[in-house]
Amino acid sequence: MPRAGALATGSPPATHALARYRNEFPVFQDTVYLSTCSLGALGERTRRRVAGFLDMWQARGAAAWYDVWWAALAELRSRYGRLVGAAPEEIALAPSISVALSTVAEALDYARRPKVVITALDFPTVAYQWLAKRPRGIELVVVESPDQVSVPVEAIARAVDERTALVATSHVYFTSGAIQDIRAVAHAARAKGALSLIDAYQSVGQVPVDVRAAGVDFLTAGGLKWLLGGPGIVFLYVRAELARRLTPAIAGWFGHRNQFAFDPRVLERHDDARRFELGTPALAAVYAQLGGLDYIDEIGVPAIRAVTARLTEDLIARARARGFRPKVAPRASDRSAIVLLPAAEPAAAVARLAAAGIIADARPGHVRLSPFFYNEQDDHVAALERLGTPTGH
Ligand SMILES: Cc1ncc(COP(=O)(O)O)c(C=O)c1O
Repeated sequence: MPRAGALATGSPPATHALARYRNEFPVFQDTVYLSTCSLGALGERTRRRVAGFLDMWQARGAAAWYDVWWAALAELRSRYGRLVGAAPEEIALAPSISVALSTVAEALDYARRPKVVITALDFPTVAYQWLAKRPRGIELVVVESPDQVSVPVEAIARAVDERTALVATSHVYFTSGAIQDIRAVAHAARAKGALSLIDAYQSVGQVPVDVRAAGVDFLTAGGLKWLLGGPGIVFLYVRAELARRLTPAIAGWFGHRNQFAFDPRVLERHDDARRFELGTPALAAVYAQLGGLDYIDEIGVPAIRAVTARLTEDLIARARARGFRPKVAPRASDRSAIVLLPAAEPAAAVARLAAAGIIADARPGHVRLSPFFYNEQDDHVAALERLGTPTGH
């Protein structure tokens, strides 16, 4: 495929330093992959990590638990923690964001604070934890978005009061890619004595995150998307002081301080975030995530952000030049590498792209494209050419 030229004076060159990693992602041999916000591409290092796990399972079976796999769990907690500026003791492993959220939902005291505040743009599984508790008297308040791109933090702050237990919202919105000011969200919660929880599934890996600088109480993210670890492994950050104090009303033996005592009469939790863990982690997913982190840690999130920010602007500019009106935040600094293009029939457009070997996904009324460090401008050119001209909207 010929290289795409720079779009205009001052725009970035057609390729970038991180494109050298592209060879390690075989999907690009015959496909244009632009769907990292749905599922990160599989890298060779990830495949090797999982193959190594399978070899170990075959050769040693359960004997590998104590000297190898246990250490892999500790390594993963520690690397997740480093990625977001947290201590390993503040990280719990979980199989999905939904499970991580539900452990938090089961750890809060709603007696005097029955309210939970979310936004209309959050991934719905955030809401479901508390909708499921409505029969128990939990009130879910959904703060609307005036433009379907972001939610003004002032509106979130207005919704929080002395009856609010928690503000739970996203760092990057999955339907617009807009980056939310999570420091301001945490401040709005704290100002009224409420806690804050951030669903950072769409940010960690593509946008720098520092839980301490942000002052958030809980944050969850994981392998599926921007951490290149596939499905089945996520983490929950719990601020140290809270991790010691809160006790989820659901439990499993991995949250037990002395799990090998096997005493059914006693439940003593870890005195750190591991008290939020439940059962045996999916080791294949743990190894896949370690492989994904081998890329993320080697490159570093700031370098990834520098490249993806330029790719994002390139994609938006090319789409606009073709007459599309991308649904993105007005300021470039508030945009992440998720770009929604209005489409009258998004599922049909995504199928048309797939038939041409271009992988994107659909969200209501839009085709969603998400470049990562392994993408190049040529990928944008290919996708936009195949999408043709804007329809409807
Ligand atoms: C922001 C966000 N949160 C949560 C989820 C779903 O999380 P899980 O399936 O792990 O519960 C998704 C998409 O998969 C998402 O984009």
